[in-house]
Amino acid sequence: MVVLRAGMCPGLDEDLVRDLRAADVKTVEDLVSCNLEELAQRCSVSYKALFAVRRVLLAQHSAFPVSGADLYEELLSSTAILSTGNPSLDKLLDSGLYTGEITELSGGPGSGKSQVCFGVAVHVSQQLKQNVIYVDTTGGFTASRLLQMLQTETSDKEEQMAALQRIRVFRVFDVFSLLDCLFGLCSDGLQQASVGGGSVKAVIVDSVSAVVAPLLGGKHNEGMSLMSQVAGVLRTMAKDFNVAALVTNYVTRSSSGELQPGLGVSWSHIPRTRILLERLEEGTTAASSAAATADVSRSSLRSATLIKSSRQPCLIREEFDLQWWSRSKDQKTSGLKRKREEDSDS
Ligand SMILES: Nc1ncnc2c1ncn2[C@@H]1O[C@H](COP(=O)(O)OP(=O)(O)OP(=O)(O)O)[C@@H](O)[C@H]1O
Ligand SMILES: [Mg+2]
Repeated sequence: MVVLRAGMCPGLDEDLVRDLRAADVKTVEDLVSCNLEELAQRCSVSYKALFAVRRVLLAQHSAFPVSGADLYEELLSSTAILSTGNPSLDKLLDSGLYTGEITELSGGPGSGKSQVCFGVAVHVSQQLKQNVIYVDTTGGFTASRLLQMLQTETSDKEEQMAALQRIRVFRVFDVFSLLDCLFGLCSDGLQQASVGGGSVKAVIVDSVSAVVAPLLGGKHNEGMSLMSQVAGVLRTMAKDFNVAALVTNYVTRSSSGELQPGLGVSWSHIPRTRILLERLEEGTTAASSAAATADVSRSSLRSATLIKSSRQPCLIREEFDLQWWSRSKDQKTSGLKRKREEDSDS
């Protein structure tokens, strides 16, 4: 509800605002929904003047419908799809992380959320040569692990350092610092965070739940309000600055015992795409047998299930190895070939 103020639009001066208030018309909504002829008589103002004010206010405050064709054009011209560097995850994400959107990885402790975030940061920085913001709220960020992943991509030390420099890390351990950090990034248009003039294409927050979950529940609802502020600033960042936002979330169990992402129903509407990561039980899964042939440690095998998407049918499940980003190019090529064969068999 927007309160009428003098100067909001041409013709709306202090006298007119006072007269309108006297006639109990205080907001833009009141003005556009009242009978203008009656109002003109009550306020002794010309109908024409009121009509002109209403037309401008309507133009300023109403949401204009946009056609699907216009939105599709906008999508083609502004959206980039950033590969995660991992073919299984890219398959679930319909090619990768979309700029302008929030994607969520959820999973229990040790399910590999941070490892995936590191891998994505390395791939976007090294292969796609784009800047990345990494907001670490758990203290789990490990530069040496990133370097380890980079060393498999290139042996050139300068290239490794350039890629690390394109990843700007913020460490924040409470929700207020997180909001400060995200609002700060928005207010300078993500400029300060860009290295060498390139733009920031991915913002990773690992994890949102670590700083939001402790404030939820109980009698107070500040937690919900702070969570919606985090959601709002992430959305603004993704849309206005055209970046892909990747966030991580913990998991809870539903009443039927199934794993589900945390932070409740309100948060569930925020990410456009949600993936659930789980450890793979050792046994007879396709990945386990592939692991045996590829000499891969089974402890690093994970399953990723698509649990929310507006592009692909949900509950598609992929199995993958957390070590993928640490493999050499040759190992990746042969892994990719094997995966294509498995996909065509199934
Ligand atoms: N250097 C490494 N090489 C290969 N795998 C590793 C390496 N470091 C950790 N891992 C694997 O990643 C797992 C931990 O994953 P990660 O830290 O990403 O979990 P997480 O989902 O972020 O957990 P949390 O919720 O506690 O933050 C370990 O159990 C191990 O299997
Ligand atoms: Mg983690």
